[in-house]
Amino acid sequence: MKSWVIGNWKLNPATVSAVETLVDDLLAQTTSSQTDVAAQCQMMVAPSLLHLSPVQQKIKDTQIQLATQDVTALTAVSGAYTGDVSAAQLKDLGVQWSIIGHSERRQYYQEDNELLLQKLLHCASQGLGVILCVGESEAEFDAGDTEQVLVEQLAVVKTFLQQLLSQLNTEEVDNYISNQLIIAYEPVWAIGTGKVPSVDEVTAVHGFIRQQLQVFNAKLVQTPIIYGGSVKPDNAANFAASEQINGVLVGGAALQAQSFMEIAQAFAVK
Ligand code: 13P
Repeated sequence: MKSWVIGNWKLNPATVSAVETLVDDLLAQTTSSQTDVAAQCQMMVAPSLLHLSPVQQKIKDTQIQLATQDVTALTAVSGAYTGDVSAAQLKDLGVQWSIIGHSERRQYYQEDNELLLQKLLHCASQGLGVILCVGESEAEFDAGDTEQVLVEQLAVVKTFLQQLLSQLNTEEVDNYISNQLIIAYEPVWAIGTGKVPSVDEVTAVHGFIRQQLQVFNAKLVQTPIIYGGSVKPDNAANFAASEQINGVLVGGAALQAQSFMEIAQAFAVK
């Protein structure tokens, strides 16, 4: 399985010119790199909504894919929803994926499974792939509740599949879940903190997630499960060494082309 190395730029950087510099640097590094990193691991970037278009212009003929960080839950296409952006609009712009349920959105916008289900269904209906984020808080980790939290968060995948099956035929659903679904395990306490779980801990959690997913649908045994939370060039190779870790979702270290490329390189040799 090809590894995924995805940069979530969050609300960074502050200007279009800084975004363009970041993409130019990234493209320069991918073409000058000794190994064809972009061919050996699947790279993706998720700029802010405002920066999707300029980034798309620059990467459209490259192997780097484009994701949005969010999508509206209110409609798949268009309507009277001031301030929102739909899956259809994003798809039309050339966006291929959406991050869904990042812990920052769960925390600041109280996103729950009911709302996330709508977002997942809208993405699927428009052919956008989804990167569904799950992960426990520090208090939940300390209380030993990680598995229970994951079971609750992953329950949305079961409902999503049930509803997809009522909208699409089995082949279309199989196709979608085989090619356009990624789970990102991001323990909230590891995001932006420099604290990272050990590779063994992440490996065990990913094994648990995979076991849960398989119960919903046997095909989900193949779903890429990636890790996010303080991934840096100096710890990427450790994560890449685990068979259960199919890539990474990178925040801070994705904002410098060089560190993002070093992380991608660690996964390209996997
Ligand atoms: P950091 O890599 O900055 O910890 O962020 C991780 C993250 O939230 C990616 O979605």
